[in-house]
Amino acid sequence: MNPLKLLKKYFNSQTYLIIVKHSQLVKKKALEIAKNVPELKPDLQFIKEAAMLHDIGVCKTKAPLIGIPKGDHYFTHWEQGRKILEQEGLPKHALVAERHFGVSKKEIIRQNLPVTKKDFLPLTVEEEIIALADRFYTKKPGELEKERTIEEVRTGLQKFGPEPVKRFDKLVKKYKLKRN
Ligand SMILES: [Fe+2]
Repeated sequence: MNPLKLLKKYFNSQTYLIIVKHSQLVKKKALEIAKNVPELKPDLQFIKEAAMLHDIGVCKTKAPLIGIPKGDHYFTHWEQGRKILEQEGLPKHALVAERHFGVSKKEIIRQNLPVTKKDFLPLTVEEEIIALADRFYTKKPGELEKERTIEEVRTGLQKFGPEPVKRFDKLVKKYKLKRN
């Protein structure tokens, strides 16, 4: 399976370059995190592929800053990503795409987010590692390659309430991340 070929199929040339760069950084960070926990036996080949594909659903959403002027609400990229990857015959990768943002049903209802009212929380070791790695990078132009510190991630999450911060802290501990 060639993730780049799949991304090329779904993104225009401008967005393709941004998504590939972002996904490569998330992949690199995810592999670093996986090395901290050999005892959990993370599937490295799967992490490599799924990290590259976690944001594929963005192609169906409105994301003008990265070259997609029209589409559905950005947050629907979790579910759209799952749908695309299931259609491509990748059901396990599809769950990474759907769960990588990490938000609970309760938080979705409270914030009235325009997505299905259900949990979007990473469950497996590989899903958690990719979700955690993704927190350190943004796709905003000019900030694409900048890795956030743990404190910057925490500050960014605080606007969504205490639960996402608590979940992040738990993953930082479980995957033995060091304060950078
Ligand atoms: Fe991402």
